[in-house]
Amino acid sequence: MDVKVDTAQFKLDGATYELNVRHGTIGPSVVDISGLYRDAKIFTYDPGYTATASCESKITYIDGDEGVLLYRGYPIEQLAEHGSFLETCYVLLYGDLPNNAQRKEFESAITYHTMLHEQMSRFFSGFRRDAHPMAVMVGVVGALSAFYHDSTDINDPQQREIASRRMIAKLPTIAAMAYKYHIGQPFVYPRNDLDYASNFLHMCFAVPCEEYKANPVLARAMDRIFILHADHEQNASTSTVRLAGSSGANPFACIAAGIACLWGPAHGGANEAALTMLEEIGTPDRIPEFVERAKDKNDPFRLMGFGHRVYKNYDPRAKIMQKAAHEVLGELGINDDPLLDVARELEKVALNDEYFIEKRLYPNIDFYSGITLRALGFPTSMFTVLFALARTVGWIAQWKEMIEDPSQKIGRPRQLYTGPVAREYLPSSKRI
Ligand code: ACO
Repeated sequence: MDVKVDTAQFKLDGATYELNVRHGTIGPSVVDISGLYRDAKIFTYDPGYTATASCESKITYIDGDEGVLLYRGYPIEQLAEHGSFLETCYVLLYGDLPNNAQRKEFESAITYHTMLHEQMSRFFSGFRRDAHPMAVMVGVVGALSAFYHDSTDINDPQQREIASRRMIAKLPTIAAMAYKYHIGQPFVYPRNDLDYASNFLHMCFAVPCEEYKANPVLARAMDRIFILHADHEQNASTSTVRLAGSSGANPFACIAAGIACLWGPAHGGANEAALTMLEEIGTPDRIPEFVERAKDKNDPFRLMGFGHRVYKNYDPRAKIMQKAAHEVLGELGINDDPLLDVARELEKVALNDEYFIEKRLYPNIDFYSGITLRALGFPTSMFTVLFALARTVGWIAQWKEMIEDPSQKIGRPRQLYTGPVAREYLPSSKRI
């Protein structure tokens, strides 16, 4: 393929096809192949979509080589340092930072929707007590689609808005209920006088028999963790939400599909896996053994929390997360967490190892988030749930952008078929 300035040429069997090259504001341009099958009767092949842009988007930008992450143009470092999670939600949904009136209106609308329909609380008892909270999340968030008929006409902008706000408001309540059910404690209702993160910590850690006051340093760390996870352009779960939504499906069901995808250990499940790995390593002297295993082609073991499809440089979120881990441990007076020692040493060893340098494998956000979340009091099984809670706004923003895009079509990839060619059905008496 010879690329020119604004068009590319594709040559096949003596014929030449002109393809438009489209440029974004920043980042790689794209070759528009949408007419290729119509004109040349050929598909493109890209398993895992490593070089395929599935949509046009104005929401999040990542430069994996430089370690840059922008939400609507705002650097993640600035949002995490100066902003709040709800402000970040506003940015992702509406495109700009809110002014004071807009921020107040948005915050009070989210607060107003935090309670769940009371009947939904009975859903939880249908799950086994030892069910993974992510399984509960998939089921209960999917069930929202059966409860809110007044916000499911996706062609009505007002209803899309209500559905979006409901999800951001109710996900913490559902996540906290999944946790309480998991540990056998009574559900704690939301408190609308608290900020988003404090309310979530309250629903998770308060019990009816005692006073609970969320520590503001820990609430701020929780809020920052939510900001860091809020969106990440067209990753697997976001693409799942877009694909599910492209058929016009119910938005709550689409978010449940995103949660299902996020659960996998190669995606959101990695924070749980990273902490389990650090626990398994146990002491810094065992690090070389695990690093050798990660490098061994015949061993499926990988260093969890290392490597990323897009970041081939330090994940900018990992740096902020590392700082949050220190703040939380400092506030809680945990000065010598052996897992933090293992993590620090492992990071040092891996960053200096030829294998990791050559493959450009750097710590990702999950490397330090597990340590932070554990110190906040969450069991490992809740880590991916917290990720899902925070990512909900990104999924919704991307879903809304897709629905509002006039060129939107149902997502329908093609394939390279390598199965049998047409053959006759044989009655069972004639089969060998
Ligand atoms: N440990 C050891 N080797 C690794 C690791 C790792 N963590 N990650 C990648 N590699 C190696 C692969 O074996 C492969 O080697 P090869 O070229 O010799 O075959 C090479 O690096 C490229 O790896 P791929 O799996 O092809 O890269 P891909 O972009 O598909 O995968 C992924 C990215 C899934 C994140 C991968 O790095 C991984 O499995 N990491 C561990 C899990 C993890 O931390 N996931 C969190 C992702 S971030 C998030 O979802 C928030």
